[in-house]
Amino acid sequence: MCGIVGYVGAQSALDVVLAGLRRLEYRGYDSAGVAVLAGDQVACVKKAGKLSQLEKALVDDPLPGSDATGDGHGGATGIGHTRWATHGGPTDTNAHPHLDASGRCAVVHNGIIENFAALRDELAARGTAVRSQTDSEIAAHLLAEEYAALEGSAPPGGARLAGAMRAVCRRLEGAFTLVALHADAPDVIVGARRNSPLVVGCGEGEAFLASDVSAFIDHTRTAMELGQDQVVEVHPDRAVVTGFDGAPADARTYRVDWDASAAEKDGHDSFMLKEIAEQPKAVADTLLGRLDPALGTLTLGPELGLDPAVLRDAEKVVVIACGTAHHAGLVARLAVERWAKLPCEVELASEFRYRDPIVGPRTLVVAVSQSGETADTLMAVRHAREQGATVLAVCNTNGSTIPRESDAVLYTHAGPEVAVASTKAFLTQLVACLLLALHLGEVRGGPGDELRAAARALGRAPEDVASVLATMEPVRELARGLAHQETVLFLGRHAGYPVALEGALKLKELAYFHAEGFAAGELKHGPIALVEPGLPVIVVVPSPVASGVLHGKIVSNIQEIRARGAHTIVLAEEGDEAVVPYADHLIRVPAVPPLLQPLVAAVPLQVFACELATARGNDVDQPRNLAKSVTVE
Ligand code: F6R
Repeated sequence: MCGIVGYVGAQSALDVVLAGLRRLEYRGYDSAGVAVLAGDQVACVKKAGKLSQLEKALVDDPLPGSDATGDGHGGATGIGHTRWATHGGPTDTNAHPHLDASGRCAVVHNGIIENFAALRDELAARGTAVRSQTDSEIAAHLLAEEYAALEGSAPPGGARLAGAMRAVCRRLEGAFTLVALHADAPDVIVGARRNSPLVVGCGEGEAFLASDVSAFIDHTRTAMELGQDQVVEVHPDRAVVTGFDGAPADARTYRVDWDASAAEKDGHDSFMLKEIAEQPKAVADTLLGRLDPALGTLTLGPELGLDPAVLRDAEKVVVIACGTAHHAGLVARLAVERWAKLPCEVELASEFRYRDPIVGPRTLVVAVSQSGETADTLMAVRHAREQGATVLAVCNTNGSTIPRESDAVLYTHAGPEVAVASTKAFLTQLVACLLLALHLGEVRGGPGDELRAAARALGRAPEDVASVLATMEPVRELARGLAHQETVLFLGRHAGYPVALEGALKLKELAYFHAEGFAAGELKHGPIALVEPGLPVIVVVPSPVASGVLHGKIVSNIQEIRARGAHTIVLAEEGDEAVVPYADHLIRVPAVPPLLQPLVAAVPLQVFACELATARGNDVDQPRNLAKSVTVE
């Protein structure tokens, strides 16, 4: 939520920052802005709308000193921001960066400053008017004040700016990443973080600050993760990290294990299409080194590094997650209960800490998050740890906050997911959750033959997903034909239920119309009233062989809606002939064990939503009102 980039080095800061913002635009896209040091002045341009509006404004009216001068007097230090509005609508004035009254200090912010109203009133009482409706602008004024207050105790420059930033942070409440520059400190940028992401990129004679590594991956793959409540003073050749109290702090440096091409569209029309196509590889990468597909055995224990007793003696598992990740958690529950014979609850992270969840030292909490920064999930993790639970993160983003604050982590290794709607992250979350459930089953003496068979089948998942992707043209055609619809329902049972929820979520967020997923058995308890002639209903059918009585039950549900005129779109495994008479449209997926079916059944629904939204003229990478990485509660 909001993308932040800062640069200090010998290149044109404007070019570097704009390129970084292009990579981060998925984090928010309702306005954007940049500020660079030009001579001993700050030059700032900001525009409502997508980044392209800012780029156009910069072409029409170039920033002074926007070329790299290399003379130490500007052009080579800059910050930028792409916004997802929280306080104040998407206008030029509310866009970041925000400047102090003198125009010498510029700040970008991600998060919510909860005590901004009190601080704004304090500023007003001192004669400083806040121009925008944001909670963020006060940070620029406060930083300038604190910088001025340090005159006499510190010379102008980076150390003083960092000291001023620490003083500001001590006064702020809420969640924030701040990045700032000051005309008095030409070769430095300063950043701070609390409950919101910020990472340092360490290049050769240049350095970066960004919300995530994709902003600087073209320049360096060496990154430094900042901890909670830390301030960093970034020079081209070094970064000095301290706590908000000024005490020196350590920061872990790591190497990013993917390169710039992973953050490009690579010939696809959208990131979403690219990420859908990447799923066989992403799934294979999640499995790599963790499972021997031939033997059906796992090698997860050493990687998790958890005391086996924690897993053996756990009384229950609680999965916490949001949105799509929550749907992966619903599949995890089925697998944990089946294979590990452990009670498993799945919680929306945003609800978890606001009731009185019963968790304790013998609870294993699994926090599923692609970004590792989702505020709701992070707060739930902290709450669970406060109750003494062991928290294991299933996460895609190395160095992010949720894994750092958890007891163990299982990375999904999906590579960067740029499209706002989750696709490959979902499939790899499913794989990681299934691996974990199998591991729990092994540790706790679960059904050996079934575990080995499931592990072997999981090893074949990359090929199964690839075979689904190879047969998607009829699904695309179907989607184009339904582009005029205003409602689509999704039904499923057992592992098909989370798939139905996920199919509906994809359609809602991309096509902007009413899509809803139901447990098929619930239909007659109310939702069947929605069914009217011609209504498209997509039904995820479990295996006729492996699912026992469930298959027959859902075939009955299909007949019930068909009797009321629904247009039935049936997603069933190869060879399931029983559904044929009741399907107006049939989508085939390979036969896999029941708990693995979401891996193949989710893919056509992703393709369906993407194609339908495209046919409606929507931007599938940046759907309206959304942002990836939701760092506010
Ligand atoms: C939907 C989607 C969201 C995320 C949710 C959690 O396509 O992407 O529902 O799944 O915001 O995000 P993470 O996994 O980053 O915690």
